[in-house]
Amino acid sequence: MKQSKTFPKDFFWGGSIAAHQCEGAWQEGGKGPAIMDYATAGSYEIPREFTYELEEDKKYPSHDGIDFYHRYKEDIKMFAEMGFTALRISIDWSRIYPRGDEEQPNQEGLNYYSKVIDELIHYHIEPIITLYHFEMPVTLVREYDSWLNPQVIDFYLKYVKTVVSALKGKVKYWVTFNEMNHIDPQTEASDIFTYIIAGIKYSEIKGNKKEVLARIGYNMTLAGVKAAKLIREIDTHNKVGCVFGIHPIYPRDCHPANIMNAFKEMDRDFYQIDAMCNGEFPKYKIEENKDYGIDIEITLEDKKAFQEGKLDFIGMNYYQTGVAKVADESLEDQKLFGGVQNPYLQQSKWGWAIDPIGLRYLLNYTYRKYGLPIMITENGLGAVDELVDGKIHDDYRIDYLKQHLSEMKKAIVEDHVECIGYLMWGPIDLVSATTGEMKKRYGFIYVNKYDDGTGDLSRLPKDSFYWYQHVIETQGEEL
Ligand code: BG6
Repeated sequence: MKQSKTFPKDFFWGGSIAAHQCEGAWQEGGKGPAIMDYATAGSYEIPREFTYELEEDKKYPSHDGIDFYHRYKEDIKMFAEMGFTALRISIDWSRIYPRGDEEQPNQEGLNYYSKVIDELIHYHIEPIITLYHFEMPVTLVREYDSWLNPQVIDFYLKYVKTVVSALKGKVKYWVTFNEMNHIDPQTEASDIFTYIIAGIKYSEIKGNKKEVLARIGYNMTLAGVKAAKLIREIDTHNKVGCVFGIHPIYPRDCHPANIMNAFKEMDRDFYQIDAMCNGEFPKYKIEENKDYGIDIEITLEDKKAFQEGKLDFIGMNYYQTGVAKVADESLEDQKLFGGVQNPYLQQSKWGWAIDPIGLRYLLNYTYRKYGLPIMITENGLGAVDELVDGKIHDDYRIDYLKQHLSEMKKAIVEDHVECIGYLMWGPIDLVSATTGEMKKRYGFIYVNKYDDGTGDLSRLPKDSFYWYQHVIETQGEEL
């Protein structure tokens, strides 16, 4: 068969955004409070805080976001102008079930998302819907113990059923979860990741922390496979994926012990993908958990769910690679995602290693492991943009994206990886998830909003807007 020398014709070109980072309107449309509504604004130097009550002297950036809730028409029009063929948005669970445990959904929330999706369809933009992007109703954490409680799986499935049924015929591509893999029992976790994923601060976990993480990880994985089956039952045309945030780990050097360390560190991110693609929860993980005194019962019903809930595609969020720790390395040396800096790579202002080849490596690695189509669901550069004479000349962003797209192209054309789309994060400036800042900007579209609360929220295309427009126009021929 003749191999196409470029991107497939039906390749998805577009971007990804998440409700809690862009919508704002946190008390409108019947929405309930969600976990990120209690996350304060931080910065690279000052970690976000997760407060129990809202504190008057603190800023909570999800409350206003970039006001996508009211401006979605304007924003989608600009995405359409760039030629997007897909947009990944998330649905905020707390707009559909404000507490999470109600009998009936909030119709206003369903209507809102239906209108947003109609707008996308109007411009022939394929909606790719994430059902959980760190947006859990806070009540499910405070009154039900979050994902530690199997009842929460049932609430999630009810929410999934409600949304997928309501949007039947409009949406084909569904993502069950975003980046649940950042909770791993074998890793010393930080508050930020356990909080954004499950609403729980790592430092406040009482008792066996590993066990708590293992149970959360198991229950979310189980919820993912059960949801996959359910989504396909509602409409057999539906395609179900789950999104993982993977940064490949390189060994420090060729010392065999360091190769092994690197393998182990990277492999930790894959047990949930194994579970969702191979039809069973991996035996190595069950045994590893037992080594730590953690005995998770996998019932016959669970086993059946793993068999029946395999993924149709894998979503990959790729930003950076890491270098494996060596066993005796001090923890102080570790960056946000662990490991030390790679001397061969430049870092972003937020310390994320810029590694385009890492994207080609990850695509190859994952495709050869599972043989499933892969969608790049996030990739982008968080940078400080400066307005000069009313314009943003973001050559650094263009350069970053160009290099990543070029490596992705090699993976598709030369390595024969089935990659079905590239969704850049976040095509419009929005609130950073890890730091809660506006200053860390990713967009093709500049949003006039600043961390001190000023700004009129107006939108402005950056130079990269026109560059991406051209990339899409030429189907990736001209990068
Ligand atoms: C991904 C998340 O991990 O990274 C996004 O899915 C997030 O929600 C993105 O925004 C970039 O991280 P940050 O902290 O720069 O916003």
